[in-house]
Amino acid sequence: MMDNKVLAKKWWHNAVVYQIYPRSFCDANNDGIGDIAGIISKLDYLQQLGINIIWLSPVYKSPMDDNGYDISDYQDIAAEFGTLAEMENLIAEAKQRDIQIVMDLVVNHTSDEHPWFVEAKKSKDNPYRDYYIWRQPQADGSAPNDFHSYFGGSGWEFDATTGDYYFHQFSKRQPDLNWENSKVQAEVHNMMNWWLDKGIGGFRMDVIDLIGKEIDQKVMANGARLHPLLQEMNKATFGHRDALTVGEAWSATPEIAKLYSDPARNELSMVFQFEHITIGWHPQHGKWEPQAFDLIKLKKVFTKWQTELADNGWNSLFWDNHDLPRAVSKYGDTGEFRVESAKMLATALHFLKGTPYVYQGEEIGMTNVRFDSIDDYQDIESLNLYYERTAAGVPHEKMMEGIYANGRDNARTPMQWNNEINAGFSTAKPWLKVNPNYTEINVQAALNEPDSVFFHYQKLIKLRKEQPIMTYGQYIPLLEDHPDVFAYLRAQDDDRIVVLNNFSAKKVILSLPAEVQYIKGQSLISNYQSHHSLTDEITLQPYESFAVAYKQPVA
Ligand code: NOJ
Repeated sequence: MMDNKVLAKKWWHNAVVYQIYPRSFCDANNDGIGDIAGIISKLDYLQQLGINIIWLSPVYKSPMDDNGYDISDYQDIAAEFGTLAEMENLIAEAKQRDIQIVMDLVVNHTSDEHPWFVEAKKSKDNPYRDYYIWRQPQADGSAPNDFHSYFGGSGWEFDATTGDYYFHQFSKRQPDLNWENSKVQAEVHNMMNWWLDKGIGGFRMDVIDLIGKEIDQKVMANGARLHPLLQEMNKATFGHRDALTVGEAWSATPEIAKLYSDPARNELSMVFQFEHITIGWHPQHGKWEPQAFDLIKLKKVFTKWQTELADNGWNSLFWDNHDLPRAVSKYGDTGEFRVESAKMLATALHFLKGTPYVYQGEEIGMTNVRFDSIDDYQDIESLNLYYERTAAGVPHEKMMEGIYANGRDNARTPMQWNNEINAGFSTAKPWLKVNPNYTEINVQAALNEPDSVFFHYQKLIKLRKEQPIMTYGQYIPLLEDHPDVFAYLRAQDDDRIVVLNNFSAKKVILSLPAEVQYIKGQSLISNYQSHHSLTDEITLQPYESFAVAYKQPVA
């Protein structure tokens, strides 16, 4: 049971990734929008945290219909973020601190302002026409079929000049590329190599599971051509460069994730899968109707993925990102136990097998925001869906509750650096309002407090470097039916780590599983001052969490 298949070691196995959403990170030129110069100014802070990789959400030229996930030039930088020279400087400055930059690769779609689309729209015989997906109207002039856009409304938009509809899975300003066209493939490969030649460390691939779509068969995710396309991409670009690649794959099951991340298949390093996120959504109304949190369900999902990808594949580990609510608001406590619960969540995640991702602000326990007026929101998805659903009869209050719980602006409020004007993000009015709790929750306060969430993350990141068992040890779940405690072991040879995490705001009297009763070990990390002696029963404080390393006695 203990003899794990030997996995070829990769530099990103024990790395920790930090995600930056540039618009909200740090505004160096004080125009209210974060920028590359702002990121460079915070590299020392990130080095202090200990991360080795930055996943940079898009900084490319873009009309910003979806904050940069609508790209009009893949080889240039949006003016509000800076210049190509600054980007090159960021790559170099990061490298000096042993940090690799992973770029966001958004190639399921472009912006409608991308020159390819501007050309494609001109006529049916334009050389770029076939870079996108066009279909004729139905006999009555309506859209070719009933595909919906993720951002509300139809997935088809009529183009009056040529009389056809084009396909867009996101906003109508994000037309889908036609990946069946080999010219599209070659253009993307060239662009990827151009960035790799600039010294970046890899790519995070936006909704990559959608590029193999088979429109006429109504297959969107996991189309037959998806994996061959990725193998071709791997061969033509990053395959021989030792890059980190992580695909965003909402549709991935463990079986599918193995197709992407089994090293023998030469596709990607790993994928982001979202089963631990979507189990908290309403079966029909999705994220807009949040469900009660169920730890047993969550543990089942983690255990499934940890087990299935143990030997041939690799997991990415994350609680949140720029599309998701803040971890501490969703799974922890934003009141009395904010600090304890933020640390507990970090411990619970970072001891799992896989590569952890920290989303900006998570390392100081930033929380969701509640703006009173819908007009204070900026996210295209929240706004479109708010208007679409309230027009269809959903009460305002109900929709606001959905936005408060799961809207994307929760993660996008400006980074809270200090308790000065606009949280130190900018001296100008920020593009999205700052969370008013910045006076209490901010980086400066965290750095002044040795017991802060920040230093807890720093310690976890350091532990991952020091303890190979955290990277390669086997995952063994414990107490699977316990409703409040997430407990597991990591095991490698005779080394063990036991991790116990109380996900509730109450004290829990816990009968320890036989494996860990009376063990004598070394405490690796904990979020309370006093340490337990592990007898047969212990009392966990609200959100208490700790990890203990020990040796398994030889039987
Ligand atoms: C996923 C990205 O994470 C999200 O922010 C974006 O809106 C969509 N893909 C479309 O690119």
